[in-house]
Amino acid sequence: MHCYGDLVSYLSCGMILTGLGHLVHHRKTQPSYGRHMGPSPLARMVPARVAWFLQEMPALLIPILLMLTSHKGSSMGKYLLLGTFCMHYFQRTFVYSLLTRGKPFPLAVMVAAGFFCCLNGFLQGHYLLHCAQFDDEWSADYRYKTGLLLFYIGMAVNIHSDYILRNLRKPGEVVYKIPTGGLFEYVSGANYLGEIVEWFGYAVATWSFPALSFALFSLCFIGPRAYYHHSFYREKFKDYPKLRKALIPFIF
Ligand SMILES: NC(=O)c1ccc[n+]([C@@H]2O[C@H](COP(=O)([O-])OP(=O)(O)OC[C@H]3O[C@@H](n4cnc5c(N)ncnc54)[C@H](OP(=O)(O)O)[C@@H]3O)[C@@H](O)[C@H]2O)c1
Repeated sequence: MHCYGDLVSYLSCGMILTGLGHLVHHRKTQPSYGRHMGPSPLARMVPARVAWFLQEMPALLIPILLMLTSHKGSSMGKYLLLGTFCMHYFQRTFVYSLLTRGKPFPLAVMVAAGFFCCLNGFLQGHYLLHCAQFDDEWSADYRYKTGLLLFYIGMAVNIHSDYILRNLRKPGEVVYKIPTGGLFEYVSGANYLGEIVEWFGYAVATWSFPALSFALFSLCFIGPRAYYHHSFYREKFKDYPKLRKALIPFIF
């Protein structure tokens, strides 16, 4: 397959614009799913495990299918795709989804998220396999090493923080408690901080516009959620730790 450069540029720009649009549109509330979702008797709901499994799966399957059907793709591109993007979505699809104790998820949000994962899976996979050109020294480049380090640190923080959140509830419980431990001692959105660091690390390691656009999208999408989660905790819990910030330790 040859590189569809124009399509890659359109999708990448579209992703940044969608992220900015979300930021502006949802600057006052975060109604889509989870704790900020208002009561909506007409909304069709799906169990959280089913929703996360189905919506995240395309971001794993599409790059793998692209890899299996491409015989020429760059080997560094394949290595990066498997070692970063696919690894993240394997965890999200087969571990996070199946263990979550979240409340039911709106069907419409699941469909939109699944559509996003299809486009993003195609964009990242196609770019790394067919468009990116890495020279032979790329694995020794400081951008590659720093980016991968950031990616793995971010992923570890994200997984550990999601683990802490999950264990705040007993099976079947739907209450909110104050998270403690790990980076939650510093920020209310520790899982989001990990995920944002992860995708900026991926952008540095691949030095690519599509990866940067996904990192910016993530910042615009989950950055505000961290802020609203933080406000929620401060309102709900009078004893909420005063020094804890929303997303960036000691700063914001
Ligand atoms: N890259 C992206 O653009 C993007 C976008 C969205 C999500 N994500 C990632 O997907 C994962 C989940 O995102 P999310 O928005 O669902 O995270 P979240 O709102 O922090 O919730 C994560 C899970 O923990 C539960 N939970 C959260 N705080 C809790 C508390 N104080 N007490 C008890 N349970 C609590 C939630 O239950 P409820 O559902 O019942 O609230 C949910 O099951 C995160 O790792 C996030 O980084 C990434």
